[in-house]
Amino acid sequence: MDKLAIVTGANRGIGKEVCRQLAQLGYTVLLTSRDVTQGETAVADLKRSGGDIHFHQLDVTDEASVAQLRAYVVAHWGAPAVLVNNAAILIDNNERVLDVSPDIFAATFAPNVWGMLRLCQAFAPLMREKGYGRIVNVSSEMGQLRWLNGGTPAYSLSKTALNGLTLMLARSLKGTGVLVNAVCPGWVRTDMGGPNASKSVAEGADTIVWAATFADDGPTGAFFQERQQMDW
Ligand SMILES: NC(=O)c1ccc[n+]([C@@H]2O[C@H](COP(=O)([O-])OP(=O)(O)OC[C@H]3O[C@@H](n4cnc5c(N)ncnc54)[C@H](OP(=O)(O)O)[C@@H]3O)[C@@H](O)[C@H]2O)c1
Repeated sequence: MDKLAIVTGANRGIGKEVCRQLAQLGYTVLLTSRDVTQGETAVADLKRSGGDIHFHQLDVTDEASVAQLRAYVVAHWGAPAVLVNNAAILIDNNERVLDVSPDIFAATFAPNVWGMLRLCQAFAPLMREKGYGRIVNVSSEMGQLRWLNGGTPAYSLSKTALNGLTLMLARSLKGTGVLVNAVCPGWVRTDMGGPNASKSVAEGADTIVWAATFADDGPTGAFFQERQQMDW
């Protein structure tokens, strides 16, 4: 298979596991992370069980870094088949909407919303040109409208915005062969989810990989968890 899959924030957690599963399915995987040493270590670790896995540095908040990644992909593969927008931060667990600072909002939205949009702007046109693409935006049920209760406001609203962005991109790309969907991995045992979370990284990555490999008649502009569609 000559299909390239780019995964952001993949040096650890769910992103790394998505790389493992896509490589096992035969994709050429481009594992990206902002720290070079951590990314290369993750690639070396994953390669022990086989697969065609490469590394490129990527800070999703850095315009130049995204441009360098895009140039590398164009030079080596032309266009990606899959983009998994996974990189995100959660820094306002103890905040409430009436007290949260603009700094926390700006810091959270930079990777969680603008970073994901920046990656879509870089790669969706290449996918459209090729007539094939699968974009999976890793979201959270915390961004669902029914869960917006005032806690963790920056992170939750960043995922609400990401869901809206997913719908907007899907509608913009309808009929081009590029499918764009959002996935909540569930509560997963990672640095972000903590040790008491209910799901393993393998379980958390499952629906992301499923949506990254939809057939041509697969859904677009939808939000999934455990392979089931959810309300926005
Ligand atoms: N874990 C859960 O329970 C859970 C639940 C719902 C949704 N999610 C979503 O699932 C995704 C993955 O979460 P996770 O649990 O695997 O989190 P994690 O263990 O905290 O990993 C987050 C990854 O994002 C990277 N990252 C952060 N800012 C970045 C930037 N500016 N540029 C590039 N990479 C950046 C981190 O890199 P560094 O190592 O350099 O910091 C790390 O690789 C996120 O979108 C998260 O919102 C997770």
